Amino acid sequence: MEFNYEVEGGNFAKAGNAASSVKKVLKQLNVDPKVIKRVVVALYEGEVNVVAHAYKGNIMVDIDTARIFIRIQDEGPGIPDIDLAMTVGYSTASAMVREMGFGAGMGLPNMKRNADSLKLSSKVGEGTIVELTTNLSK
Ligand SMILES: Nc1ncnc2c1ncn2[C@@H]1O[C@H](COP(=O)(O)OP(=O)(O)O)[C@@H](O)[C@H]1O
Ligand SMILES: [Mg+2]
Repeated sequence: MEFNYEVEGGNFAKAGNAASSVKKVLKQLNVDPKVIKRVVVALYEGEVNVVAHAYKGNIMVDIDTARIFIRIQDEGPGIPDIDLAMTVGYSTASAMVREMGFGAGMGLPNMKRNADSLKLSSKVGEGTIVELTTNLSK
């Protein structure tokens, strides 16, 4: 089954809405709570990245019996150096974003740690695509 969410850049009040909706769905499907936690943490970080760094985006979540696949696609500035962006503590978040408690530079490292596979692709001036896969059959 497939779920889609729209994400508004800059709207921190709504950041996390997709993650909490997916959490409910996975609970209803009786997915292992440890797996749910990993998926929700990774998705939340990806969702916040669209809000903090991009103009708008959409999230597609596809669940089958073997895995949960998430694609987070945004229109935004893109990421010029993906290896640098993946570095713990690296952040270009604005002072305002930091004051709100975001921008610790832990999002991408957390996503990598919590997903079984993470694929990042980006075009500067266009946007970013993050693909996360979490296996269910373990
Ligand atoms: N969707 C995105 N669009 C543009 N830049 C991004 C995006 N996601 C991450 N980045 C870049 O990668 C950096 C590191 O991301 P992350 O580890 O989540 O830390 P943080 O969001 O706290 O800055 C960000 O500061 C930003 O420069
Ligand atoms: Mg982040």
